Amino acid sequence: MLPERLTHRPLADADIPAVCGFPRTPEELYFLFPRAVWPLTPDQVRAALPQRRDPTVATLGGRVVGYGNFATFEEGRTASLGNLSVDPDLRRHGIAAYLVGVMIERAFVHHDLPELTLYCFNTNTPALLLYAKLGLVPMALETRVTPWGDSIGLLKLRMDRDTWRGRAVLAA
Ligand SMILES: CC(C)(COP(=O)(O)OP(=O)(O)OC[C@H]1O[C@@H](n2cnc3c(N)ncnc32)[C@H](O)[C@@H]1OP(=O)(O)O)[C@@H](O)C(=O)NCCC(=O)NCCS
Repeated sequence: MLPERLTHRPLADADIPAVCGFPRTPEELYFLFPRAVWPLTPDQVRAALPQRRDPTVATLGGRVVGYGNFATFEEGRTASLGNLSVDPDLRRHGIAAYLVGVMIERAFVHHDLPELTLYCFNTNTPALLLYAKLGLVPMALETRVTPWGDSIGLLKLRMDRDTWRGRAVLAA
């Protein structure tokens, strides 16, 4: 149980150092921001922002505890969720589930998009189980090579607006 209620707001520049503390290892950084170089620095986060949309933080009692954005965005068509990450001290408390829910609602209600996608590496079990729980469905599989030379699978997952609305009705 979290001691306080989760909230969310747009990323502020002052939040960026906290966000840089979310990846614990070079592998986690690769999972959430494949083009970044370990360790994650505020300059790398800032440099990516012009290509990102709706950078959003989850907060708990004023502390920044999660981050996500849209890595790609096509008006009226689709968007993909990117940079999803949670403070390592507060994982398994529902922060990512909350933040993905916020971004899904932003995509489907605020932007009126018909679908949301995201990419996830096959060895990232926590994230894959998170997305499975939220109802995202794998739709494609590509091969990549990690910076340390391993072949890895990159899954594309998808949620469509009608399915999301149906799940919301069932949960109500
Ligand atoms: C993946 C990540 C965002 C999950 O954040 P989180 O706040 O701990 O996730 P939640 O607490 O919301 O978990 C929701 C569900 O996801 C699944 N899940 C999350 N982490 C898990 C883990 N370590 N092991 C197994 N299942 C896990 C579970 O089904 C969980 O529900 P439960 O706790 O009721 O069993 C976090 O581990 C992280 O920041 N990882 C590094 C960056 C990363 O990989 N980002 C994703 C890029 S695609």
